[in-house]
Amino acid sequence: MTQSQRIRTVVFPVAGLGTRFLPATKASPKEMLPVVDKPLIQYAVEEAVAAGAEYLVFVTGRTKRAIEDHFDTATELERELEAKGKEKLLQLVRDTVPKGVSCIYIRQGEALGLGHAVACARPAVGRREPFGVILADDLINSGDRAPALAQMAEVTAARGGSVLGVERVPKEQTDKYGVVEGESVAEGVTQVRGIVEKPDPEQAPSNLAVVGRYILSRNIFEHLERTQPDHRGEIQLTDAIASLMGEEAVCAYEYAGDRYDCGDKLGYLQATVAYGLEHPELGPAFRRYLYGLDHT
Ligand code: UTP
Repeated sequence: MTQSQRIRTVVFPVAGLGTRFLPATKASPKEMLPVVDKPLIQYAVEEAVAAGAEYLVFVTGRTKRAIEDHFDTATELERELEAKGKEKLLQLVRDTVPKGVSCIYIRQGEALGLGHAVACARPAVGRREPFGVILADDLINSGDRAPALAQMAEVTAARGGSVLGVERVPKEQTDKYGVVEGESVAEGVTQVRGIVEKPDPEQAPSNLAVVGRYILSRNIFEHLERTQPDHRGEIQLTDAIASLMGEEAVCAYEYAGDRYDCGDKLGYLQATVAYGLEHPELGPAFRRYLYGLDHT
C-alpha cells in the first residue's frame, strides 16, 4: 500500500440502539456479537488496519463499555494465560489492537442518527486527509482480495474526493438503503450525481445501495453541521453527502466481497454459517454437521 492509499483515521459509529437485535442488545452492544470467535467490531478494526489506519475513533453510547474493554489491556487474563503457558491464546488477547495503533473514544450522548455520530468524531479526525467510516454490523468477507476499505482507498488515491461503498441489491429492497445515481466512469466506479435515503422501489433511481463503508473528505463536517434532522429527529449522513456533492466529487465503488447485515438476525446467522464453514479449525466438522442435518 502506498502512502497516498493509506486511510490513517477510521471512525466506527457504535452508538446505535440495535433495536432489531433486542433483547440481545439491551445491555451489550451489537458490535460485540461474535461471528464464530471474534466480535463484529474486531473484524471491522482488522479491516481498518489493513487499509493503513493508525487512529481508530469509536463513537460510543450507553451500554458500549464492553467495546472499550475489548480493545484495552486485560492484565489479569494475560497474567493467567502466561502462567499457564497458553501462548497462542495470549497472543490472540494481546493482538486485538496492533502496536502503533491508537484507540480514541468519543461519546454520542443521544442516538440522533448516523450523521450525528460521524459529526461527533470531528475533534478526533485529522485536518487534511480523507477518513474512513466503517459500520461494524455490515460484515464484508473479501476472501483472498484486499478488504473492502482498502479497495476503496485505491479509488480515493486514484480519483480524489469521497468514495461510498456500494452493492447492487434487488430492486424491492431499495427502501432499506441509501441509493445512488450517476454515470459509470471506470470498472465498478460510478460518479455520483444524486443520493436518496431509503427510496420506495418505484422511485429508486437505481439499485446501487450504499452499505456501511465510506471514505469521506473532511469537508463533510461542514455539511453535517448544516444538515437538518429528518422526520424522526435523526441527522442522516446521506443528506450531508448529498450536500457535499454540490461542492466536490463523490464516487461510488462496487467493492468485491460478500456482505452480511449482522444488525439483522437472518444476516447474522448467514454470516455465522459462512465464517464457520471457512474457519480453519471448525470448518470441516461444521460442514459435516450441516450436511448431516435433516433438510426436510
Ligand atoms: P442502524 O441503522 O443499524 O441503527 O445504524 P441501530 O440503532 O444500530 O440498529 P437498529 O436499526 O435499531 O436495529 C447504523 C450504524 O450507525 C450507528 C450504529 O451503531 C450502526 O453502526 N449509529 C446509528 C450511531 O452510532 N448512532 C446513531 O445515533 C445511530
